Amino acid sequence: MERLVIEGGTPLRGRLRVTGAKNSSLAVIAAAALASDVSVIENVPRCQDVLTLLEILRSLGAQAEMSDTGRLELDGAGLTGHVAAYDLCRRMRASIYMAGMLLARLGRAEVPLPGGCVIGSRPVDFHIRGFEALGAQVVTEHGFLKAHAQHLVPATFYVPRSSVGTTINLLLAASRTAGVTTLQNAAREPEVVDTAVFLSLMGARVRGAGTSTVTVEGTADLRGATYAIIPDRIEAGTYLIAGAATHGDVLIEGLISEHVTALLTKLTDAGVTVEADAAGVRARADADLRPIDVDTAPYPGFATDLHPQVAAMLATVAGRSVIRETIFEKRFGYVDELRRMGAEIRVDGDTAIITGVPHLSGAPVDAVDIRAGAAMVIAGLQARGETAIANLENLDRGYERLEDKLRGLGARLQRVRV
Ligand code: UD1
Repeated sequence: MERLVIEGGTPLRGRLRVTGAKNSSLAVIAAAALASDVSVIENVPRCQDVLTLLEILRSLGAQAEMSDTGRLELDGAGLTGHVAAYDLCRRMRASIYMAGMLLARLGRAEVPLPGGCVIGSRPVDFHIRGFEALGAQVVTEHGFLKAHAQHLVPATFYVPRSSVGTTINLLLAASRTAGVTTLQNAAREPEVVDTAVFLSLMGARVRGAGTSTVTVEGTADLRGATYAIIPDRIEAGTYLIAGAATHGDVLIEGLISEHVTALLTKLTDAGVTVEADAAGVRARADADLRPIDVDTAPYPGFATDLHPQVAAMLATVAGRSVIRETIFEKRFGYVDELRRMGAEIRVDGDTAIITGVPHLSGAPVDAVDIRAGAAMVIAGLQARGETAIANLENLDRGYERLEDKLRGLGARLQRVRV
C-alpha cells in the first residue's frame, strides 16, 4: 500500500505544463476504435483511467501502443469482441463509451454497467434512451448493458439533462450511422468539442459542437486520424487552486484560458490575482483571500470536477463560503476527510457551508475519489505538519506525475510504501 506524505506550509511557485485532458482522451480513444485502421493521438495523459481504457480495447482485439511522451497509436483493425471485461469496466465511468462504439462498429455491445467515482447515482438511462432512439434494442441484465441493432438509424434525440457522457456516446454511435442525427440539449464541454473535431477528421460531419444542438452526418467509412488532445482544464485548475491556497504564484503554460473562465472569475472574487495571456494562465495570491459563493454547473459554468479542490482552498479563508453542487449529489465525500484536518464544513442538502479556520493540521486522510483526492493534496499543502493520503489509486486515475509536478513548484511531498 502506498501513501502520499505531504509536509505542508510551502507556497507553490513556478510554472508547469499540464497534460492532455483525461476526459477528452477517453472519448477520443473510444472514437478511434470506430475505425478499422490506425489513429495517432498525441498529448494523451498516462493516467490510470486511460491505461484501463486501453486494456479494455486490447481485450476486444484492438492494438494500442503508448509512448512515454503521450503519443498513442491505436489500430482498430482486429477489434472483433463485443463483450467488454467486467473487471476493467467497473473501475471507470467512461467504459460506457464502449457501448456506443461497439454498437456502431459491430452492431452489438455487452458492457458492464460502469463504476468510477462514488459521487452520485450516475445512472445510464439517458445513454440507453439515446441508443434506442437510434434503433437499438437495449436491455440491462446481470449487471450488463446489452445492446444490438442490425442497422442503426439516424434520429433527433433530446438529451434529457445536460450530460457529457450521453452526448459523447451518441456522437460515437451517430458518426458511424448513415444519415443525419441531431442531438438537442447536448453538453457543451470542451471535451465534447474535442471529440467532435476528432470524429470530423475521421470522416463524420459534425456541426454545432460546443452549442446545445449538434448534428452528425455519419458514415460507415470512418478512417483513422491524427490528432492532439486539448490541455486538461481540470488538472490545470487543480494546480491553480493549489497555488492560490498556499499563497503562492503558479503559471500554467499552454492552457486555453476560455476553458477555465468560471474558475478564474471565482478566484478573482476571492482576491487572487489572475493573468491570462498567450503564455498561459497565472494565479498569484499575495494577500489574504476572501470567502466566496460557488454554484457548480454544466460548462461554461463552474466545473463540478473543481468543487472539492476549491472547498479545500476555502477551508482556510476567514469568513463563510458556500458551495452549491448541482451535478452530483454525493460529491461531498471529501468533507469528512477535510474535517479530520480541522476544517469546519457543514453540508445541508446540496450545499456545503464552509467557515474558514486559521489553519488546517496535517492528518491521515483518504482520497475517496479522484477530485476528493486532489482536494486532500491541496489541504495537505496548506496544513501545518504532515498529511498522509491513502487510496492513491483514486488520485492516479486522473493525475499523471502529480508528485513530480508539485515538487517542481516547490512542494515537499513523497510517495511511500507502508
Ligand atoms: C463526465 C466527466 C466527469 C464530470 C461530469 C460532469 C468523463 C469521463 N467524466 O461524467 O468527470 O464530473 O461529466 O461534468 O468525462 N445522468 C443521468 N443519466 C444518465 C447520464 C447522466 O441521470 O444516463 C446525470 C448524472 O447523474 C449527473 C448529470 O446527469 O447528475 C450529468 O452527468 P454526465 O455529464 O453524464 O457525467 P459523466 O459523463 O458521467
